[in-house]
Amino acid sequence: MAPLTDVGEYGRAAEMYAWDRNELRKKISKLIKKANDAGVAEGSRSPRFEKHSNSCIRRLGGGYFFEWVHACRTSCETCYYYKLFYVRIMALPAHRRVAAPMVGCSDLAFRLLCRRYGADLTYTEMLYADRFVGDEEYRQTYFLSQISSADRPLVVQFGGNDAPTLVAAALLAQPHCDAVDLNLGCPQKRACEGLYGAYLADREHWPRVFAIVRALVDALAVPVFCKIRLQPTLAETVRFARGLQAAGCGLLAVHGRQRGSATRRRAGPADLSAVRAIKHALRIPVLTNGNVRRASDIEAALRRTRADGAMVAEPLLRNPSILQHGAADRPSLRHRLLLLLEYLELAAAHPPPELQYARHHLSWGLGRDGAGARLRYKHVAQLVDAPALREALTAATSLHQLREVVTELVQRLDDAEAARVSVHEEAARSVGTRAFWCGGVVVFE
Ligand SMILES: Cc1cc2nc3c(=O)[nH]c(=O)nc-3n(C[C@H](O)[C@H](O)[C@H](O)COP(=O)(O)O)c2cc1C
Repeated sequence: MAPLTDVGEYGRAAEMYAWDRNELRKKISKLIKKANDAGVAEGSRSPRFEKHSNSCIRRLGGGYFFEWVHACRTSCETCYYYKLFYVRIMALPAHRRVAAPMVGCSDLAFRLLCRRYGADLTYTEMLYADRFVGDEEYRQTYFLSQISSADRPLVVQFGGNDAPTLVAAALLAQPHCDAVDLNLGCPQKRACEGLYGAYLADREHWPRVFAIVRALVDALAVPVFCKIRLQPTLAETVRFARGLQAAGCGLLAVHGRQRGSATRRRAGPADLSAVRAIKHALRIPVLTNGNVRRASDIEAALRRTRADGAMVAEPLLRNPSILQHGAADRPSLRHRLLLLLEYLELAAAHPPPELQYARHHLSWGLGRDGAGARLRYKHVAQLVDAPALREALTAATSLHQLREVVTELVQRLDDAEAARVSVHEEAARSVGTRAFWCGGVVVFE
């Protein structure tokens, strides 16, 4: 029987949660000693005792899972769960600044780019649990080809409504990730038809959701996370969130909007006060999601909600460096273009499942706005017509050709800046001073 190991690595998480490291060490050492004395193997499984395991989590904070299972052979008046027989300790991955799951956009190259610029936790796009289990090609294309040891800690997100299928999918993903997430927030028509995402979170399905989470928690060695939207009332959202926590959910990401309609999925501001209330009501870590438009909004959202981390989606597509500490609220066009080239370089080394992923990144990064005849790319509107650019993006059949599109834009930007300088130089000459280009502005001596 392998004894439980050293407590060293748990100190890292103590720092993460600003707990007293020595205090935590002492507590964990004591627990480990007890478990070792009782001859309990690490990772062994036993039935859950909800009430008791909750009280353990409260005593030690949200980052650890202490699952103690008791088979008390002595009778204890005050507490049936008197003797500690088994303890399982697991540190959650860092989750202060989180790249959200995004279908068609969370490819490995993009996640690696986000990591370079401040993301300390990334999610895969939502994967369909049934296809993941039954279709090897799907699993290979959308998951196995999209993982790397450089992209950890990683959360794998699944959509589905059948516990055995979700468990089977999660068990296949488990060796390659640090947590598994259940999507309870997708509002799309497909999710309605397939009964997953936000539709599975309707009141009538709660017992089923809790059973799924419990089944995942019991089957997996990695933590189980959930991502939700708001229920029709705050009281219901809190009840739902508490139910998920009781079922064993280890971290809850809260998109502070209700389901809305399939076409108005992110309309209106997110309700960060609701996120704050949920955080207050739970013991497990909570991620706030929504209302980040610029870099400075991230810390503001964290302060406002007191959440453990901020999850960002669409703004990250517009600016993949937004999670970086001290990132500019209004990045320059050159910075945006260089980020796109950096993405394409990563994509050449780690090709996305389809070229469309790269097209999406270019389109978002260039400031895509509107659709159809009203589509424009606002960041490069002064360099190129929207229809021409759209055609160039659509016509590209390789990463190389997409790279040529961006390189051409960089060239046009250089030309435009050079032309601006020469106009100003001309003006300066006419008034007898010298002009030079400095950080994007023309300076006259
Ligand atoms: C292109 C795109 C794809 C998305 N795909 C997913 C997904 O696969 N799973 C999920 O839970 N949410 C998905 N979302 C929702 C986001 O994760 C996030 O909850 C939502 O966009 C609100 O965050 P934001 O205001 O930072 O964009 C997606 C959002 C976008 C823009």
